[in-house]
Amino acid sequence: MRAVDIIIKKRDRHELSREEINFFVEGFTDGSIPDYQAAAWTMAVLINGMTPQETTDLTMAMVNSGDVLDLSQVVPLAVDKHSSGGVGDKTTLVVEPLVAACGLPVGKMSGRGLGFSGGTLDKMESIPGFRVDLTTEEFLSQLDQIGLVLTGQSADLAPADGKFYALRDVSGTVNSIPLIASSIMSKKIASGAQAIVLDVKIGLGAFMETQEEARNLAQLMVDIAHLADRKAVALISDMNQPLGRAVGNALEVKEAIDTLQGKGPDSFVFHCLDVAEQMLVLGEAFPTVKEARKSAETALNDGSAWQKFLDLVRAQEGDIDYVKHPDKLPKAPVIKVVKSPETGYLSQINARIVGETAVGLGAGREKKGDQINHAVGVEILREVGDQIKAGDDLFILHAQDQAEFDIAQMRLIKAHQWSESHVDPLPLVYDIVS
Ligand code: URA
Repeated sequence: MRAVDIIIKKRDRHELSREEINFFVEGFTDGSIPDYQAAAWTMAVLINGMTPQETTDLTMAMVNSGDVLDLSQVVPLAVDKHSSGGVGDKTTLVVEPLVAACGLPVGKMSGRGLGFSGGTLDKMESIPGFRVDLTTEEFLSQLDQIGLVLTGQSADLAPADGKFYALRDVSGTVNSIPLIASSIMSKKIASGAQAIVLDVKIGLGAFMETQEEARNLAQLMVDIAHLADRKAVALISDMNQPLGRAVGNALEVKEAIDTLQGKGPDSFVFHCLDVAEQMLVLGEAFPTVKEARKSAETALNDGSAWQKFLDLVRAQEGDIDYVKHPDKLPKAPVIKVVKSPETGYLSQINARIVGETAVGLGAGREKKGDQINHAVGVEILREVGDQIKAGDDLFILHAQDQAEFDIAQMRLIKAHQWSESHVDPLPLVYDIVS
């Protein structure tokens, strides 16, 4: 078998066999298939798609590229969540300690930024010392001891996804339903989660822009979970405007800390509770969504979720001083408030433009291996539906220098649109696929 023939076959819209997919994934993982062939292949998949069978085979090939964790010795039912990627999506930072504080253990393997969307690992690395490279033994022992782990894909779990993920980020091959579904599900299956809540984002700042695409992705992932004998439910949630206020690594950590201390923006808090309640029910900690939500609200309000976050940072060697005093987290040299140039109801805050602007400021990567700047980003001060006057504060920009500030300011003002007539707020969740 030759890699080039498999690329040509997909380029010419033919269905790949399980053997061909295994050959390609194994070759890319062991380095015998180089990045340029893998990039050509992922582009062919992005353009021509995959059948559900091919997607399932790709998922399992990525799972089998490394070890599969068996968590049953450590926790009775391991629950996890995963987002399909968005702008300002720091949900994991809040929801994982929240669910753990409600008594349900959570062991999660997260990813880095992808295209215009941020990544949990990059965010957590704003905390000096925080380790995202736990070994499997460390993962298991931490899950056992504190019931909470938030790490990167260790080299031995779904290593193929780690390689494809980094390549797709910089080769324009992110927004493909089969590539996203197999990437997410291979990680989840390999890391031993038995119950998985999927947060499928839809809208301008998501990889899925239409309800139909989001529903297809959600259904495909739920089906793959069932084939692999896991429980899964998928929320389809809004990503037309950024989630919460902060976009950028340290800024998002600060907002997560605020939220864990009961001071988060309402819409973000509600979104976290929506995800947490699904995890708590799927993980069989509570029989009903109502009871699960009540417990999650209590854990946010009584400080137990915040304590769990501190346990997590401590366990993974992060400097606790920086989370107790988030003003110490990395700070950009230029921080300025930008005022609204217009009066009216906000009808759009284009999450895609906000995400791309944050990447342009240095919060994400333009090419593989780029260093990211943890300090830069933006705080969006308004939400769609808000009524504002010209001269009101609109957003706060955190930039490395004045020239970058100027470019970002122009782009971010264009991300906002105003209407003279009333605009309804955007919904948080559109649907649940189970
Ligand atoms: N999240 C992932 O883990 N993989 C993707 O491809 C997209 C979002």
